[in-house]
Amino acid sequence: MPALSGGSVAALGALRRLIVERTDPILGRCRYVADVGGEQIARPILVARRGDRLDASIENRLPQPTTVHFHGLTLPEAQDGAGFDEIPPGASKALRFDVKNRAGLYWLHSHPHGFTAEQVHSGLAGLLVVTDDEDAALDSALSLSPGNRLALAVADARIAGGSLRPYAPSQEDCVHGWFGNRALVNGAPGAEMTVAQGWVRLQLLNASNARGVLLAFREGGSENSHDAGANIPFYLLGTDGGLLAAPIPVEQVFVYSAERVDIAIDVSGRREVAAVSLAFDPRHQARGGKLAHPHPGRERYPPLAAERICAVGSERGAVGFLPDGAELALFTLRVGPGQKPLPPLPARISTLADAAAATDPVSRRMRLDFDERAGFLIDQTPYRADELAFSVGRGAREVWEVRNSPISMPHPMHLHGFGFRVLRRQGTFGPARALAAESSGRLPTDLGVKDTVVVWPNETVWLAVDFALPEDTAFRGRQRYMFHCHNLEHEDGMMMRNFAVL
Ligand code: C2O
Ligand code: CU
Ligand code: CU
Repeated sequence: MPALSGGSVAALGALRRLIVERTDPILGRCRYVADVGGEQIARPILVARRGDRLDASIENRLPQPTTVHFHGLTLPEAQDGAGFDEIPPGASKALRFDVKNRAGLYWLHSHPHGFTAEQVHSGLAGLLVVTDDEDAALDSALSLSPGNRLALAVADARIAGGSLRPYAPSQEDCVHGWFGNRALVNGAPGAEMTVAQGWVRLQLLNASNARGVLLAFREGGSENSHDAGANIPFYLLGTDGGLLAAPIPVEQVFVYSAERVDIAIDVSGRREVAAVSLAFDPRHQARGGKLAHPHPGRERYPPLAAERICAVGSERGAVGFLPDGAELALFTLRVGPGQKPLPPLPARISTLADAAAATDPVSRRMRLDFDERAGFLIDQTPYRADELAFSVGRGAREVWEVRNSPISMPHPMHLHGFGFRVLRRQGTFGPARALAAESSGRLPTDLGVKDTVVVWPNETVWLAVDFALPEDTAFRGRQRYMFHCHNLEHEDGMMMRNFAVL
């Protein structure tokens, strides 16, 4: 197990029970508690080696249904926690699977349709760090000091008068997404971590409901004010589904909701490094929409069924929040004293192969649309739990063309169960286009294995997906998965489709 800092670590294999509980009924705050047999760890960072087995149960102590989705892992439908099979209030469910995926930063979060945005925002999101030999080799090549490997979930929340505001989206929030005014890191505001001189390896998840992060680092502390504004260069090591073949030097990277990056930053000779989300134009062009409605996902739960979502909040502006694309301070690294020789970054960090050819024929086209009354839709169709948009043969290799409409918003589109590769982008908007590393329009963050990809307004993205499933009895028969926007207000707002692998 790597020495990880950022929170309390629990080994996935030691987990006996995952308790889902509400800790503050007024603000609606919730948390996961890992029972590892003899010890209970609140808000754990789970750690596993590739191949590890989980055999535990989920205990739902919420007054709402829930599910636990392992975002990024390849799991059979019965273990994916996607919301086909909710755990009613007070009930339990067996959780049993093997970790088949590459080393990388994955995460778990609740996913009951109609409750997802509220529950994730309330704290039901946790990290899962998967390691393997390549991952360990990288740590030793970087000669990481203890405390210099971090696993961080960044999310925004509304804080007023020193306390968190409850989740209460207005109609406007349901169109654009719920934005806060402060960043939480692993659940806490104003995060400061102490690291030693040398390389820092940081695995970061954007766990925000809707905010896009344009991650950059700046020299902090007043002594260095002459440097203020200059971004500190760093290296991109990996993306959602693990390490790149080789590190890529960057100065800023987009990390939209549910995306992850793995980076190395040299903090030698510095005293304080501030992580920020830089200001950018997020292109939220879609306006209006009357989205208040009782949610079909809530129909079966009587006291909740009558509530209309997207109507409870006061109109926007009543509580301060920063819109998408506003500059936002994320966290601070305080760097200890001393000197440490800095080993060079290895030229190769994994055996990841190149993606398929950008010109492979398209197997499937999907359009992201906006409807004034229905909100955001995939192929003009609002989500229905019992519907299948299409079926795919097991082991099929497909190229998906995903196109966003011109008057729209950035949509971080997520595929359950399968990592994919980005082949090409066209029509990309300014701030993202400026980061493109190749003539295919791909950004450095497009060069690894992805499970979530942001599609800008008027942009088309081509993805290569390999629908291979493990040879394992748990994966026998039809398996259903989802493709949806990970702006959680859009997801609960029906921007989701099911498909089956046969
Ligand atoms: Cu992270 Cu279907 O979600
Ligand atoms: Cu997922
Ligand atoms: Cu969206």
